[in-house]
Amino acid sequence: MAFMRKYLLPILGLFLAYYFYSAKEEFRPEMLQGKKVIVTGASRGIGEEMAYQLAKMGAHVVLTARSKETLQKVVSHCLELGAASAHYFAGTMEDMAFAEQFIVKAGKLMGGIDMLILNHITSTSLNIFKDDIHHVRRSMEVNFLSYVVMTVAAMPMLKQSNGSLVVVSSTAGKIATPLLASYSASKFALDGFFSSIRTEYSLTNINVSITLCVLGLINTETAMKAISGIIDKDPAPKDECALAIIKGGALRQKEVYYDKSPWIALLLGNPGRQILEFLSVYSYNMDKFVNK
Ligand SMILES: NC(=O)c1ccc[n+]([C@@H]2O[C@H](COP(=O)([O-])OP(=O)(O)OC[C@H]3O[C@@H](n4cnc5c(N)ncnc54)[C@H](OP(=O)(O)O)[C@@H]3O)[C@@H](O)[C@H]2O)c1
Ligand SMILES: *[C@@H]1O[C@H](CO)[C@@H](O)[C@H](O)[C@H]1NC(C)=O
Ligand SMILES: *[C@@H]1O[C@H](CO)[C@@H](O)[C@H](O)[C@H]1NC(C)=O
Repeated sequence: MAFMRKYLLPILGLFLAYYFYSAKEEFRPEMLQGKKVIVTGASRGIGEEMAYQLAKMGAHVVLTARSKETLQKVVSHCLELGAASAHYFAGTMEDMAFAEQFIVKAGKLMGGIDMLILNHITSTSLNIFKDDIHHVRRSMEVNFLSYVVMTVAAMPMLKQSNGSLVVVSSTAGKIATPLLASYSASKFALDGFFSSIRTEYSLTNINVSITLCVLGLINTETAMKAISGIIDKDPAPKDECALAIIKGGALRQKEVYYDKSPWIALLLGNPGRQILEFLSVYSYNMDKFVNK
């Protein structure tokens, strides 16, 4: 009890004060005006919606996915909506050389990067896991490894612009999700990796924000088809979801929760994890790693 009173309560108090009183800036669409933004998986679904929202806000966009024809249409529509500029490079994120080159080319084209939105995933159907090692590997490569490769390629430009990295994940990257084991594993990997490097950035004064977006079920065509006859649940709208992701990135939030139910954010906020992460930082001496 004495320990509780002496350490735990003051720490909890500090933590809660920090949590609730840290100044919350308001989002304004002008924040994206003229910004240089990359969106992956932008040929359909949430990625396509994000491209349109960014276009309306007057951003420069460079998009990617595999299907050239679809990207061409999305780019034309972005220009109609008022994008400062809109381009695409088509290719597969199974190919790490493409992932890297895409970022280099997009950066050159726009003369820098302010925001990198990593959103694509390899196609996945709901199934009991038996022995499809191939799909586990493909999920890890496309949904996780290519995100790391692109982050590495973009980091010099993001550092230069004090930019933002936005990683699109899922509730399946926070809780056990039957029928989606490989997908879930790749989304958990994003949390482990990007939350860890976010802490490294903060300890070594690198001013690039990392926003992990935890999405519930969204009404994209792919998702609706995948769950049909298996999961009976109300989806949230993809346009509102796209806006929530962009807002979170622009406001440099650590995490964005977007789901039909407001309970998700509350329950997955995980104060235990946050307190432990907050405290563990004090046991590190980072002198060796700063400015290297
Ligand atoms: N929809 C949901 O219910 C939901 C829920 C939670 C999280 N999320 C997350 O939200 C993000 C977007 O989901 P979504 O529902 O919008 O997906 P989607 O509609 O299926 O779109 C996926 C995008 O990724 C691209 N893609 C697929 N395979 C690719 C590959 N090998 N290389 C490069 N690009 C590839 C697709 O274009 P091409 O086929 O032309 O390549 C498409 O543009 C994902 O990160 C997903 O995990 C979605
Ligand atoms: C990035 O942030 C640093 C420190 O706040 C500031 O000095 C610099 O001007 C900023 N650069 C840009 C491009 O905003
Ligand atoms: C980091 O960059 C953002 C965006 O440019 C800026 O608002 C903020 O002041 C910078 N923070 C630090 C500590 O330099």
